[in-house]
Amino acid sequence: MARGAVLLAVSASVAIHRALDIASELRKRGTPLRVMMTRAATKLITPVQFQAVSGAPVFHDLFAPGGGDAYEHLTVAREASVFVAAPATADFIARLAAGIADDAPTTAALAFRGQYIFCPAMNWRMWEHPFTQRNVGILEAAGWRRVGPDSGELGCGEEGTGRLAAVEKIVAGIQDALMKVS
Ligand SMILES: Cc1cc2nc3c(=O)[nH]c(=O)nc-3n(C[C@H](O)[C@H](O)[C@H](O)COP(=O)(O)O)c2cc1C
Repeated sequence: MARGAVLLAVSASVAIHRALDIASELRKRGTPLRVMMTRAATKLITPVQFQAVSGAPVFHDLFAPGGGDAYEHLTVAREASVFVAAPATADFIARLAAGIADDAPTTAALAFRGQYIFCPAMNWRMWEHPFTQRNVGILEAAGWRRVGPDSGELGCGEEGTGRLAAVEKIVAGIQDALMKVS
């Protein structure tokens, strides 16, 4: 991966299929990209599907990295300029805000230096919960740029705020961040 590359960290939201569209859109634009997945995310969609769409191995197991590089969490972080958590579950946001590094994407997040973006997606009650709001505030205070969430019908069938932002809005945010580092 070259400088100017994007690390797309995918967590286990019902909106996970839209991360495939984000990856596909970035690839169409020729943006170098590595996808990382939480353990829970790999239960919703298999890594090979993200590999097919992104054209690169997916980093999802800290202790069995695909490329034969034991320090893949450091390598991917060093080579990227923009870290994007999309969709970002309540759990993923909480772990990131706490500085926990217990899987591939959270460990890479701590090793990364550059522009951070997060795109929350969750049920509206989870979104409004004071713990989630506190964790979102911690990331924002640390300079993470937030895209979304939007309001409307949620994956669970309820209405409220918590929908993953539109793919175009997320990709525009990524392009913006790439401009800042180029
Ligand atoms: C079908 C399904 C959909 C889910 N969607 C969401 C979601 O959109 N947002 C969220 O915060 N959690 C959601 N969850 C719960 C998370 O998957 C759960 O908190 C998990 O531990 C998150 O792990 P991760 O953050 O490591 O990916 C969902 C769970 C299931 C079973």
